[in-house]
Amino acid sequence: MIKSISDTAVLQNGLKMPWLGLGVYKAEEGQEVIEAIKHAVAAGYRSIDTASFYKNEEGVGEAVKQVDVPREELFITTKVWNTEQGYEETLRSFKESLKKLDMDYADLFLVHWPVSGKYKETWKALETLYKEGKTKAIGVCNFKIHHLEDLMKDCEIKPMVNQVEYHPRLTQKELLAFCKDHQIQLEAWRPLLKGEIFDEPILMALAEKHNKTVAQVILRWDLQNGVITIPKSVNENRIKENADIFDFELSMEDMEQIDSLNKDLRNGPDPDEF
Ligand SMILES: NC(=O)c1ccc[n+]([C@@H]2O[C@H](COP(=O)([O-])OP(=O)(O)OC[C@H]3O[C@@H](n4cnc5c(N)ncnc54)[C@H](OP(=O)(O)O)[C@@H]3O)[C@@H](O)[C@H]2O)c1
Repeated sequence: MIKSISDTAVLQNGLKMPWLGLGVYKAEEGQEVIEAIKHAVAAGYRSIDTASFYKNEEGVGEAVKQVDVPREELFITTKVWNTEQGYEETLRSFKESLKKLDMDYADLFLVHWPVSGKYKETWKALETLYKEGKTKAIGVCNFKIHHLEDLMKDCEIKPMVNQVEYHPRLTQKELLAFCKDHQIQLEAWRPLLKGEIFDEPILMALAEKHNKTVAQVILRWDLQNGVITIPKSVNENRIKENADIFDFELSMEDMEQIDSLNKDLRNGPDPDEF
């Protein structure tokens, strides 16, 4: 039972990763992302999810300097973008990310998408960075089961995290079970479907039953499925709202009702076609 914002998942290598983090995709570089992170840290968040692609790593780094919490108590994730994949290119991209973040290590470094013909070389670079202690954990995003199987045939270190699109319209049961079997922590991106599911009657009824918002019900469902979640917001009230999910519990029936909303529907691209 996850009871507090400071509760953590334990990755395959023993590293603790907060169950809840702040996503900053589309949070503008500069003041917008800095303010969002300050509000989040004040609300108890300790994990921030950025990427070279988001073009806001400098703001993330600046925010980390401005908050009252020491760097080592924060969990910073960044990612290598598709056009930066390959062994040497990935090493360069990581160096560039750290420079922008103005940090000497990352907590988690992820392959952003499984670029066909490239991701294995990219992964080797992540293994190197991990062995050198420049990132405390390594993982992938948007890997389907066949990508994970293919990577694990050759890799030295298994991915510790797989960050994928995951919400009540895309419940990814098979992938979740596969990841659990292989000690790969699943992490949900676009958990709130950008709000596009907030008028769903089953979710509205559950929100009313628990005296919570639909966003809170969905995020709680993530946690109870053992999935790390990183809702994005730049709004102070919504940042707080999304963190107020530790004082209630969905019943088995509630969980099943949410599962029943699955339509295998992607909001973002299909990893096989991107
Ligand atoms: N690895 C990948 O390929 C990948 C892809 C996409 C996303 N991600 C990561 O996952 C994070 C989350 O996904 P996302 O940003 O695409 O979508 P999301 O978190 O599902 O939704 C974010 C949107 O919902 C709004 N919102 C947030 N909380 C709300 C609330 N309580 N009530 C009403 N509206 C709310 C936000 O607006 P306001 O900001 O105005 O509150 C924003 O427009 C990203 O920021 C990024 O870090 C990773």
